[in-house]
Amino acid sequence: MPGDKSMSHRSIMLGSLAEGVTHVKGFLEAEDALATLQAFRDMGVEIEGPVNGELTIHGVGKHGLKAPKNDLYLGNSGTSMRLLSGLLAGQAFNSVLTGDKSLSGRPMKRVTEPLAAMGADIKTTEKGTAPLHITGRAGQLTGIDYAMPIASAQVKSCLLLAGMYAQGVTSVTEPAPTRDHTERMLTGFNYPVKQEGNKVSITAEGRLTAADIDVPSDISSAAFFLVGASIAPGSDLLLRHVGINPTRTGVIDILRLMGANIEVLNERTVGGEPVADLHVVYSPLKGIDIPEHLVPLAIDEFPVLFVAAACAEGQTRLTGAEELRVKESDRIQVMADGLQILGVDAQSTEDGMIIQGGSIGGGEVISHGDHRIAMSFSIAGLRANAPITIHDCENVNTSFPEFRDLARRLGLDLVCREE
Ligand code: S3P
Repeated sequence: MPGDKSMSHRSIMLGSLAEGVTHVKGFLEAEDALATLQAFRDMGVEIEGPVNGELTIHGVGKHGLKAPKNDLYLGNSGTSMRLLSGLLAGQAFNSVLTGDKSLSGRPMKRVTEPLAAMGADIKTTEKGTAPLHITGRAGQLTGIDYAMPIASAQVKSCLLLAGMYAQGVTSVTEPAPTRDHTERMLTGFNYPVKQEGNKVSITAEGRLTAADIDVPSDISSAAFFLVGASIAPGSDLLLRHVGINPTRTGVIDILRLMGANIEVLNERTVGGEPVADLHVVYSPLKGIDIPEHLVPLAIDEFPVLFVAAACAEGQTRLTGAEELRVKESDRIQVMADGLQILGVDAQSTEDGMIIQGGSIGGGEVISHGDHRIAMSFSIAGLRANAPITIHDCENVNTSFPEFRDLARRLGLDLVCREE
């Protein structure tokens, strides 16, 4: 499985800000993480690679970034834009962040509002979207104590990065646990971060010391094959070296509640992150009410979990997941529309979906430029009784360029055409 996307972004960001040379292994060579890499090159950081997932980052230190000559184009990547907005708010130069059509439609006020409370100067469009025009306010940010209204690792990480340049303490309290890769990696780079319950705090007192990073495989990419093997009779699959940080493993918990046969083997810690091999064997699934506390822990996996639900016996109900409406696409609507085209009884609700499991038919669906939608409908093909045609698949390259080849190797009859 390819390297973890969240950790790949963070390895570039923190490696660039560190003092010394950081070697990264397992880096995700896909468009989103490469957008972050390019942005740091544009800010004067020398980065060698990637070659076979290996990178060498010549860190410039916390105050060593240089003004980019042009706008920083971040493609489809929400993580790049939201985390960079925090980091760039406190620099001694101005910057402009832009993205593709999907990213330019995504809400940015969730970061610009708390950043403004810290003294940042960031202009969005009237709708609160990119491009973001950032006036660097070096030395003028002040820490805040922020209770996040939504459970978002991107918002949390954005504020922690801004807090590294702010006077006083910056604290973020989360309403539910979200991925904590930023906190773990900061600690790995020797930067002080204080965790007390659901509150994390940081100050400008600290330096990042270069540290080598071994990025494990992305559980969000593995999820397509956890579901694929669970729904395709006869499957028996071992996925090696997958990150199983407890803030990311909701997909395993949900699939197990549905009756999946997934074993977590050979658990170990690599560079401060838990890693394991995942063994998954076909098992008939049943519908469930998905516990709401698992939603943030499986936030990127719902498109493919909806496919699992469509193959399960009985009804699956998801609630408390309105955040899915503002991902790379409106993942509730786009999945409900596509599943209905395939003859599945899938009803969208404001904050989730109700799916009656049964058979999946063929048809033409649209992924709306969303990588995870395209891959989810490909996995649906394992159980469809007629061909599924999926349009608009190019963005699979943002997170999983090897998906097509891997899926084929595992027996999925997948034909790809340029559109
Ligand atoms: C991410 C956080 C999540 C997730 C995204 C990656 C991160 O977004 O959906 O794919 O790397 O911090 P939110 O913070 O918006 O939930």
